[in-house]
Parts: sequence; C-alpha cells; structure tokens
Amino acid sequence: MTATDLTGRVALVTGGAQGLGEGMARALAAAGAKVMIADVNEAGADTAASLGDGHGFVRLDVSDDAGWESATASTVEQLGGLDVLVNNAGIEISSLITEVQVDDIRKMLDVNVLGTALGLKHGLRTMRPGGAAGTGGSIINISSVAATIAFPAISIYSGTKSAVDRMTRVAAMESGKLGYGVRVNCIYPGLVPTAMGAGLANDMASLGLYGSPEEAVGAVIELTPSGRLGEVEDMADAVVFLASDQSRFINGAGIPVDGGMGM
Ligand code: NAI
Repeated sequence: MTATDLTGRVALVTGGAQGLGEGMARALAAAGAKVMIADVNEAGADTAASLGDGHGFVRLDVSDDAGWESATASTVEQLGGLDVLVNNAGIEISSLITEVQVDDIRKMLDVNVLGTALGLKHGLRTMRPGGAAGTGGSIINISSVAATIAFPAISIYSGTKSAVDRMTRVAAMESGKLGYGVRVNCIYPGLVPTAMGAGLANDMASLGLYGSPEEAVGAVIELTPSGRLGEVEDMADAVVFLASDQSRFINGAGIPVDGGMGM
C-alpha cells in the first residue's frame, strides 16, 4: 500500500468530462478511489465509463444549488460516501478590460465563483459529522497561476480565481473551528494546453498582445524556471497528493503547480 493509496475513498470531480478534470478523475481512480464525474457535458458519462467499473457520472451545472444537493446525495447513495471533492469546473473568456462584456463577466462569476462556493457549501455539509457521508475528508479547489501573477487578457478570470483562493482559506478556517474534519486546499495550475489553455494562447494572439499563439506560449515558458508548459498529469498528481493522507497536515493552503511561473 502506498501513502497515496485512496482505496475505499469516494471522490467527486466537477468538470471531469475533459481536460484537467478528466486527468484528475483518472489519477484518483488509479490511486484506488471510486470517482463520480460531475459535468454539464454529458460526454462525462463516457469518461466515467472509461475509468472502469464502480465509477459514475452525474449531470451538474456547478452554479445550480439544487443540482449540487442531488449530485452529492447521489454520490453518497451510488458510491457509498464522499471523501474527496475537487472543485475543478471553470471557464475562461478572454478580453481586454476596456472591451469586457457584462454577460461574459456574469458567466465567469457563475461558474468559477458561484460554482466553487456551492461546491464548498454542499461538500462540507455532506462530509462534516452528521452529514450524509460524515467522515471528513479533503476538498481541493482549482484556482490558477492567474491568481498569483498578472497576465494580459484575463482580468476577470484572474479575479474569479483569486476569489477561489480566498474562499479556500475561509472554508478551511470554518471547517477547523466547527470540527468538520475536512481539509480545504487549492492549487494554482500553470498553463496547460487543454481546450482552455490552448484557447487562451490563441486569444492573446488575436487580441494583438502577441504576434502568434506560439509567441504567447513562448512568453509563458520564458517565465517558467522548469522551462515547459504544464501537463495534465502534473495537476492530477498534486490533486491525488492533496486528497491523500500524505498531505494530512496541509490545510488552508494554496499550492503552485506551475513550474515556478508564479513566484
Ligand atoms: P476545459 O475547458 O478543458 O474543461 C472544463 C470542464 O469544465 C469541461 O468538461 C466543461 O464541460 C466543464 N464545465 C464548464 N462549465 C461547467 C459548469 N457550469 N458545470 C459543470 N461543469 C462545467 O478546462 P481545463 O483546462 O481542464 O480547466 C479545468 C480547471 O483548471 C478550470 O477551473 C480552469 O480555470 C483551471 N485552470 C486551467 C488552466 C489551463 O491552462 N488549462 C490553468 C489554470 C487553471
């Protein structure tokens, strides 16, 4: 048995249909956890099926309070508990601040801020003593390197990811003070060329900030002591660590997983 063995644990991963969330779901399942993928994209059902037997999918819009109620309840009912929650679902809509559209601000606030807030609400209610699972556990919020350094074209997104950071700290404090036994941490991923990450490089070029997407990627790598972009597995391994007992005394922390870009 390794220190990051998650056998017997149940994990709920939002935005797990693709990208970083899919990688996190795969890594948690490989470590032995039973995984519930929660996503607005029903392709998440295929992702869950590809993890093997004993995993599940629930359709969830993370900005829907009632949806969270039933997603957490069905996770406990179908998989037998809830020990790990990864609040990963997020969206990014690039814009110069001078051109930003109210609808786009609202969309990012809905998914990134409201979605994470509701995840914390329902995750803690389910995992605290007396909740449907009631055994404590670990919540991991996915913030961003954008919460730690300034990058052009993502002012609103950066603000939402800073909100994720602050909510993480206060939730960890409340959980401790009220004896919930749930650790709450966040990670700040660096740029990973998922649909979102690749889209961001394209946007920075089309907004005239860089000559090409490759130039935008080059600027990121230039700022990164590790000398490369992030990979899905870099984020997934950090999430498994924070889910496991190996991180038992890490609480209320924000951990950069960015090759040093944000220092
Ligand atoms: P992605 O766009 O590839 O995947 C996002 C997933 O979230 C999709 O499966 C999508 O259907 C789901 N989703 C979107 N809105 C949702 C909603 N309202 N309810 C439920 N699910 C919803 O993005 P990626 O790159 O995998 O990003 C995952 C997380 O990592 C996001 O929170 C993002 O902000 C964060 N992040 C990503 C970075 C990158 O470079 N890719 C860097 C730093 C942070």
